Amino acid sequence: MAENQRVLSGMRPTGRLHLGHHRVVESWIELTKKYDAYFFSADWHALTTKFDETESLRVNKRQIVIDWLSAGLDPEKCHIFHQSDIKEHAELHVLFSMITPLSWLERVPTYKGQLAAFQEKGKDIATYGFLGYPLLMAVDILMYRPIGVPVGEDQLPHVEFCRELVRRFHHLYDCEVFPEPSSIFSKIETLPGTDNRKMSKSYDNCIYLSSTAAEVKDKVWQMVTDPARIRKTDPGHPEVCAVYTYQGFFNKEEQPEICACCKAGTIGCGECKKKLTEKINAFLDPIRERRAELETHPTMLDEIIESGNTAARAVAQETMEMVRDAIRV
Ligand code: TRP
Ligand code: SF4
Repeated sequence: MAENQRVLSGMRPTGRLHLGHHRVVESWIELTKKYDAYFFSADWHALTTKFDETESLRVNKRQIVIDWLSAGLDPEKCHIFHQSDIKEHAELHVLFSMITPLSWLERVPTYKGQLAAFQEKGKDIATYGFLGYPLLMAVDILMYRPIGVPVGEDQLPHVEFCRELVRRFHHLYDCEVFPEPSSIFSKIETLPGTDNRKMSKSYDNCIYLSSTAAEVKDKVWQMVTDPARIRKTDPGHPEVCAVYTYQGFFNKEEQPEICACCKAGTIGCGECKKKLTEKINAFLDPIRERRAELETHPTMLDEIIESGNTAARAVAQETMEMVRDAIRV
């Protein structure tokens, strides 16, 4: 039964994926085992804030797919496509824009906050497109009539918005076209950045899936440890140390021993970091291998996306037939 049920998710292609994103892709991989899964790069969404920085958009949208695939997403078990390749999204967006109350868009929590944050940085993103972000996202979702959408906590209001829109559409046109999609919210334990803050490109505290072994070594070397430790013999407080947190993710077997040795002052931070570097590099090695293969065979990627586009387009065309009939347009 479940195999016929669709799920869908997307990411904006705004740059390289880091170790934190890897955990999201892992949760996607889990879903491909149970559902007919669709994943796409939301390249039109990237334009809502970066309409004036498009130099790397085409590179980025290929790169994000390479990141997903090298992280282990299997194109035989899901459909991978680009939002902008499925023009039906634009048509559905126009049609739904007719029935979307402005007030619904204006009250989406991220709207005013993001607007202000960009304003502070001296950028005005008060465009029609940015206001319509949640509508375009609702359209992305509804197009595939999925039963669920895996999203992070920050995206929950957007899925709620989508559900309200479904109810309004059904009510206005007296029809039953879409299942109300639920949020598939898997509580992913978040990996902090190398400085213990949130992992984010803007803080320069990320380790990327595409980082080289030397870059990983550098990043781990710069990691924040227990400031109370000067000498190896100083008793440490692993609970405040980012390296220790990372050991829990990448070196689980040794973490208890490291904890004891750190507290006893019998392991130095250098040695501890060396262990972590090795573990992260071992974790990234198979990812690097898959990336190298994809990068040397660009047509492989083209074929994967083309086949994803074909599958996506078939569902999208079906949906559009139903929607046009319901509206009588
Ligand atoms: N807004 C999502 C994000 O920033 C990306 C996205 C666009 C999306 N359309 C979607 C996610 C549809 C899930 C479903 O992460
Ligand atoms: Fe952190 Fe390891 Fe140093 Fe302890 S020994 S403070 S866990 S880096």
